[in-house]
Amino acid sequence: MKQPIVIVALDVPSLEQAVEMVDALGPNVKHVKVGMELYYASGPAIIETLLRRDLRIFLDLKLHDIPNTVARTVTVLRGLGVDMLNVHCAGGRKMMEAAAEAAGNTLQVIGVTQLTSTDQAALNEEIGIPGTVEAAAVRYARLAKAAGLSGVVCSPLETAVIKENLGSQFLAVTPGIRPQQADDDQKRVTTPRQAADAGSDFLVIGRPITAAPNPRQALEDILKELEGGQ
Ligand code: C5P
Repeated sequence: MKQPIVIVALDVPSLEQAVEMVDALGPNVKHVKVGMELYYASGPAIIETLLRRDLRIFLDLKLHDIPNTVARTVTVLRGLGVDMLNVHCAGGRKMMEAAAEAAGNTLQVIGVTQLTSTDQAALNEEIGIPGTVEAAAVRYARLAKAAGLSGVVCSPLETAVIKENLGSQFLAVTPGIRPQQADDDQKRVTTPRQAADAGSDFLVIGRPITAAPNPRQALEDILKELEGGQ
C-alpha cells in the first residue's frame, strides 16, 4: 500500500506565527498548506519564506471566477513556486480547463467538489443541486478529471468512491483527519491509517498537529502510524 503524504495546515494569521510553527514541527515537516487566512495576511512573502526552508506548498485559495481571470491568477501563483493549488469545481468545465492549462506540467490543480460544511439540506435547498452530497461530489470529480485537473479535495470517507469512479491515478486530497476521537467542527473524519487504507494520496492535517502540546511529536506519531501500517 502506497503511503500518503502528510500536508500540515498552517492555519495561522501571520508570517511570524507560520515560521514559529514550522520551527516547532522540526525536520519531519516536508509539505505544508497555506490557506486564505495566512496568504491574505502575508502575501507572496510567506511562499518565499517557506520555499527557503525547502518546504513543498499546497496553496489553498479555492479560486472561483471567470476562466480568463482564473488562468491569469494561476499563472501568477505558478510563478511563486507552489506545488499544488485548488479551484472550485462549481466554476465549471471551461474555468477548470483554463486553470489546468495555465498550470502546465509541474503544478497540480485540485478541484473542490462540495465543501464539507455543506449538508444535503443546504445542497438541495440553498445551492439548488438535487441528490446526495456524495453524488454531487462524484459528478464534480468527473467534470474535474475531464477538464484536466489532477484530483479533488474530499472527505477521507469519500476517497474509495472517488477512486472507484475516477481511477486510482486521480488524486484524493483529504482533510478531516483525526488520530483520536476529537470533539470539534470536523464531523466526517477518519484516522490517518484509515485514510491511507482508503487510498488517500495526501492527508491535510491541521489542529491534531498544530494545536497539540508538542506539535513535533504529534507529527512524528502520525508518520510512524502511517509507516507502520498498523
Ligand atoms: O485543523 P484541521 O485538521 O481540521 O484542518 C483541516 C484543514 O483543511 C483546514 O485548513 C481546513 O480549512 C481545510 N479543509 C477542510 N475541509 C475541506 C477543505 C479544506 O477541512 N473540505
